[in-house]
Amino acid sequence: MDHVILVGFMGAGKSSVGRLLARKLGRCFVETDDMIVAREGRSIPEIFATFGEARFREAEMEAVRLLALKRGDVIATGGGLPCREGVPEALRALGTVVWLTGGFDALYDRARRARDERPMLVSRSRAEVEALYRAREAYYRQADIIVDTTALGPDQVASRVALALAERRAASGTARAAGA
Ligand code: S3P
Repeated sequence: MDHVILVGFMGAGKSSVGRLLARKLGRCFVETDDMIVAREGRSIPEIFATFGEARFREAEMEAVRLLALKRGDVIATGGGLPCREGVPEALRALGTVVWLTGGFDALYDRARRARDERPMLVSRSRAEVEALYRAREAYYRQADIIVDTTALGPDQVASRVALALAERRAASGTARAAGA
């Protein structure tokens, strides 16, 4: 059974939706940020402050390599994890990638509620954060499934993702039966 991998910008609800989705599907829930914190023994702001962003990005790539050792989990990725050459393809090789998207304003407002935990928001203006989001969209867009979270609660988003996964599975079963 392949992983289900949630990607999207900070504030998209990957953690809360992922937890609910895992429960709905009866699967384990994993967050790449938690994997990194456990391995490094430091919080994400501490990793950024002590070693810099580049070290955190390397730790994210190590987390992707470790995901390949397991199967069938629901995984919430950090907002920047898929945004490097080759990573969207690597994630799709591990399972079904789902982009939780929405209007930038809503994402920004949500992300800022926990800004102390998000070093990418520290000392960046709103316009700079929006530029970061726009630059990342091309990577997120490579997902297999795209779910617009605008005006939806986490439970509704989780239900939509579960439905889209079931439809995708049914479609691939039909294609296989037809010899495609
Ligand atoms: C980051 C997003 C964070 C975390 C780190 C960097 C980013 O995860 O991985 O602070 O570069 O967008 P969330 O998307 O869960 O906030």
